[in-house]
Amino acid sequence: LAENPLLTDSRYRALAGSQFSMLTPENAFKPQFLHPRRGVYDFRDADLLVRFARANDMKVHAHTLVWHEALPNWMRENDDPEEVRRTMLRHIATVAGHFKGKVAEWDVVNEPMSDDEKSYTNGNLGLRSEQSPWYEAMGEDYIDEAFRAAHRADPKAQLFLNEYGVEEEGERWDALYDLIKRLKERGVPIDGVGFQNHEYTPGDRTAPETFRSHVQDLAELGIQARVSEMDVPIGEDEKDGRQTQADEMAGKLRVCLEEPNCTSFSTWGFTDRYGSTADTKIYPPRTADSLPWDTDLRPKRAYERLLEALRAAP
Ligand code: G3I
Repeated sequence: LAENPLLTDSRYRALAGSQFSMLTPENAFKPQFLHPRRGVYDFRDADLLVRFARANDMKVHAHTLVWHEALPNWMRENDDPEEVRRTMLRHIATVAGHFKGKVAEWDVVNEPMSDDEKSYTNGNLGLRSEQSPWYEAMGEDYIDEAFRAAHRADPKAQLFLNEYGVEEEGERWDALYDLIKRLKERGVPIDGVGFQNHEYTPGDRTAPETFRSHVQDLAELGIQARVSEMDVPIGEDEKDGRQTQADEMAGKLRVCLEEPNCTSFSTWGFTDRYGSTADTKIYPPRTADSLPWDTDLRPKRAYERLLEALRAAP
C-alpha cells in the first residue's frame, strides 16, 4: 500500500484534495480473516488499514459483511436456519459496531445474484440460492435483515449492495433492479449499488452509455451507484490492448463523474504486480495486464486517461 503511487503523485493529489480518495480493503474485512472462530474476532489487519487510510486522508469503503465466499468453515457448518440467522446478525453487529464512525461505507451484501440461468426463469427472481448459506436459511429476507442490522450498528455509514455482471443489459441487471426496488418498497436502509466492472474477457467490455442508463435508473429509486472493482485484463497479443483498457476505465469514470448519484470509482488493486487477475496456479505466477500501473509500478495509458477524465470533470 505504501507503494501506491496515488499517495505520491502530485498531479493526482492536486486533483484529489483532502478526503477525496477512498481505500477499499481487498480481503482483510472478509469473515474468513476477521472472524476465524465463532465469537473470536481478529481486527488487527483491518485496523491497520483503517489507520493507514486516516493517516493519508482517505475514506474507507469496507468490503464485505455478507457473502457466500471467504467464509470461515465454522460459518458453513450449521444448518439450523435460526442459528444461521443469529450468526449473521451477530457478525454484522460486532464488525460494523467495531468500525462505527471509522468506515464511511459498507458492502453489506456481496454478489447476491445467481450465476445459474434457471434462477431467472419460471418466476424465479435471480437470487443465488444453494451456494449461499444465508439464502438457504432465510430466503430473500437475509438481504433485508443484513441491511437493517448494519444500519443499527452504524447508522451514519452508507450501505451498499455489490454485484458483478450487471453492467450490461439483460436479465441479470433486470433482476437486480427489481430486487433494489423491492428493498426500497420494504423500507430497507440501502444507499447504493456497486458495479464491480470486472472485464475478464473481451465480451465483458461494456458501453459507458449502458452503464449510465443503469446509474440513472438507480437515481430514480433514490439509490447511489459506484464503480467498485474495475479491472480489464488484456491478452499479450491483443492489438491496442492498453488503449482498450484505458478507454474502458476512463469511459466508466467519465460517466461516474457526470452522474450526480455516482459517488466513487475504484479499481481492484492498482498495480499488476499484485493484481487479483494474476495466474497464481502456476509457478512462477504469471502476472496479468489489467490495472493502471504495471508490475514495476510505472503508470500505464489507463492511468493517464483516468487523470484526464478527472481533470475534465464537470
Ligand atoms: O492469506 C491466506 C493465507 O494465509 C492462507 O493460507 C491461504 C489458504 O487458502 O489463503 C490466503 O488467502 C487468500 C486471500 O485471497 C489472500 O491472498 C484466499 O485463499 C483467496 O481465496 C483470496 O482470494 C480473494 C478472493 O476475492 C476471495 O476472497 C482475492 O484476493 C480477491 O481479489 C477476490 O476479490 C473478489 C471480491 O471480494 C468480490 N468480487 C470479485 C473479486 C475478484 O475475485
